[in-house]
Amino acid sequence: MPTSIPVLKGKNPLLPGVGFLRNPFEFTIKKAQEMGDFFMMPFLLRKIFIITNHEVVAHVLQKNQKNYVKSPAYGQLRLALGTGLVTSEGEFWRKQRRLVQPAFYKTQLEDLFRGMAVVAEKYIAELTKKSTDGEPLDIAKEMMTATARIVLKTLFSTENTADINEMYRVMMDSQDYLTFRTVKPYFIPFTYLNGMHRKFRKDIAWFDSYIFKLIAERRKDANPPNDLLTMLLSSKEEETGEVMSDQALRDEAVTLFAAGHETSATMLSWALWLLSQYPEVVQKMRKELVEILGDQMPGFENLRKLTYTMQVIQEVMRLYPPGFAIGRQPIAEDEVLGVRIPKNGIMFISIAAMHRDPRYWERPHDFYPEHFTPEREKARPKLAYMPFGAGPRMCIGNHFALMEMQLLLALLVRQFDFETVKGHPVEPEPLITLKPKYGILMRVKPVADLVATK
Ligand code: HEM
Repeated sequence: MPTSIPVLKGKNPLLPGVGFLRNPFEFTIKKAQEMGDFFMMPFLLRKIFIITNHEVVAHVLQKNQKNYVKSPAYGQLRLALGTGLVTSEGEFWRKQRRLVQPAFYKTQLEDLFRGMAVVAEKYIAELTKKSTDGEPLDIAKEMMTATARIVLKTLFSTENTADINEMYRVMMDSQDYLTFRTVKPYFIPFTYLNGMHRKFRKDIAWFDSYIFKLIAERRKDANPPNDLLTMLLSSKEEETGEVMSDQALRDEAVTLFAAGHETSATMLSWALWLLSQYPEVVQKMRKELVEILGDQMPGFENLRKLTYTMQVIQEVMRLYPPGFAIGRQPIAEDEVLGVRIPKNGIMFISIAAMHRDPRYWERPHDFYPEHFTPEREKARPKLAYMPFGAGPRMCIGNHFALMEMQLLLALLVRQFDFETVKGHPVEPEPLITLKPKYGILMRVKPVADLVATK
């Protein structure tokens, strides 16, 4: 006998979860507390299962993951990303994952770190200049610039500002366009008439020709730089010796660029905003930074000694996980915890709600980095915290991202004070990532005396 689970009810029985459409981040956090960790929400003629239950998460992402593919929202992304790791499925995805994975091994990360540090140091110098006039800056924009430059340097060794600005513009405009198509699918036919789609195609064509040219040059380069593109170019299938085609290389490179900067930028923006309200956390962090780094640039090895800084990062991603949810749909009908999952059902795993489950977090809605002391981490089930997802499709860039966020946050907090601007609204907007809807305006002031903070 199939088991029944709570069903969300509302004025419109076909669409009781209007709040879900408006703001899935807040909606799932609130409803998980009222309805439990596994409930169903009718959605027109489909059923959406809202999940924070670890057994169900493990079933969908690990034990029976072969029966699940990404939800329909990813279809739009394919228009820009092609079939890279984020958007591919099945055997093709498995092969690509094997080919891309070595680029993120620890030994490679050490090489990538060097490029990252060069860009970070230059960015901090620029921010120092910008901060002298005391005008507030949009920190969300600043962090996007910093992480886009880092990912372009580590991917292509590009530091040409004009190229970077154009790549960045194309990616941002394309993302806005694809988000528009996902959120308002009924407008899609008009985008072919009003020029929006034509502009998108033109932008992507420019991006493609830029990357194909880079690939062609790199194939001829006798002394290539040690960046992600070189690693992808030299990666081979162990048994067959097969390498990636130019198209596969293009799709993976664009995917890494898209997946690799907005997530980290979002986390850093929330971090600076949260820290501005918790001066005692800033003080504790600075003490660690001054003790371990002094006024030196962080190196690959001493970065891992910044344990409190890492707890701060983990706590920011607990409250504001940049990838706040994971969506999957079954290939064939399934059953989990005795509940029948129909073939057209949607499994919506709310990472945001899992991260605020009072069963696992002492202060679920507070900013409390001590949630991540080694003892507390050991005492918690593994799946209580999963900002990078879980199972075979877990984020391939997790170590890269942690290294980048630690480097940038350490430099920013050591060098500057960040103050919020009164009256500027700060609100999470759950689109592809959990971005601050109106940006985050902050005054950035150089720290007067670094040693005095010790
Ligand atoms: C704070 C930073 C980041 C967060 C929170 C994050 C989060 C995630 C999550 C939750 C997934 C799983 C999605 C799913 O299962 O549907 C994912 C996948 C992915 N991420 Fe990240 N990510 C971050 C940074 C990065 C970086 C820096 C890169 C690359 C340089 C990257 C590349 C990818 C790729 C390629 C996938 C797809 C993996 C696959 O399906 O095989 N991410 N990420």
